[in-house]
Amino acid sequence: MPSLQTHHSFHLPARCQGIHHFSSSDRFLDLWHSSATNYLLGGGSNTLFLQDFDGQVFINTLKGVSYRETKNSHIVTVASGENWHELVTRCLAQGWYGLENLALIPGSVGASPIQNIGAYGVEVENVIAAVEYRDIETGETSERLGSECEFGYRDSVFKGKLAGKTLITHVTFELPKRYQPVVTYGDLAKLDNPTASEIYDTVIAIRQSKLPDPDVLGNAGSFFKNPVIPQTQYNELVSRHGQVPGFDTEAGVKVPAAWFIDRSGFKGKTVGGVRCHPDQPLVLTNANDASGDDVITMAKLIMQTVYEKYAVSLEPEVRLVGSAGAITL
Ligand code: EPU
Repeated sequence: MPSLQTHHSFHLPARCQGIHHFSSSDRFLDLWHSSATNYLLGGGSNTLFLQDFDGQVFINTLKGVSYRETKNSHIVTVASGENWHELVTRCLAQGWYGLENLALIPGSVGASPIQNIGAYGVEVENVIAAVEYRDIETGETSERLGSECEFGYRDSVFKGKLAGKTLITHVTFELPKRYQPVVTYGDLAKLDNPTASEIYDTVIAIRQSKLPDPDVLGNAGSFFKNPVIPQTQYNELVSRHGQVPGFDTEAGVKVPAAWFIDRSGFKGKTVGGVRCHPDQPLVLTNANDASGDDVITMAKLIMQTVYEKYAVSLEPEVRLVGSAGAITL
């Protein structure tokens, strides 16, 4: 059985029945239908194989970038197997600005709309014009405009009613020709009228200072989503605990999960081989030959402790995969 260890960024030593790299969507559909239990992987940076997976794993290597322009925009259509950070770097070099806040996010272009990746004041939904995908069952090709993708915080239609039903083949980005820097996020607000390159460099420097490099220390980025709680519950938290960071959203107040995990004393703590990262407690790392059980034990302990202390439920942001497919904690 081939190893999945180098194919997911948490680097647990899970195995599977077979691994298939595909560079055409027809090839993918043929192979997929010849096996009963399958898992489609993008860059492997948001998926954690907790144990051996009893099926076939598919790795997307669809490649290609095409460009056209309109009067006001650069329109860039990118195959889903392209690497995200390479795309950000390429666009910057071409003078097509708008992706620089999302520099250094690990993973593939095709995964970006699924969970609506976001960082430093920008969510990818802000720049997605359309997503093209194939229905895995019928093979039919469809396209949804960005406005039809039901984007939310780390959410989209591809995690909702289309979950597991599609292969995203291309993502089209619309980047305005008029440069509009986004410097709303704390550390970027210090920059005075920055160029896109300055934002790119600063984002990379912030990420490198807080987030462990998955090639050096296995991890899957933020392990939990930031919980969004009702305003009344937020007010209660403030009256009980003093200052609590919070950001108003349409769905309620988004409170950093890192704040709860930090206050619950997990920073730097280990369970078996898993460590809660000392510089950003929202990230769990594979510090010392961790097992899938270590990950589950640590995640449940954090969820339970935070719930007992603050009555707030944390939800994993990463996709956890067991022997038969995705699981929930
Ligand atoms: N905080 C603490 N203690 C800490 C660290 C942070 O209390 O040790 C609190 C602070 O109040 C801080 C707040 O958490 O202001 C927010 O921390 P940070 O700015 O590092 O961001 P985050 O909310 O923890 C989110 C994303 C990251 C993204 C950053 C920057 C999610 C789940 N995570 O993290 O995305 O890079 O914002 O925009 O939304 C990822 O998804 O894998 C990821 C890394």
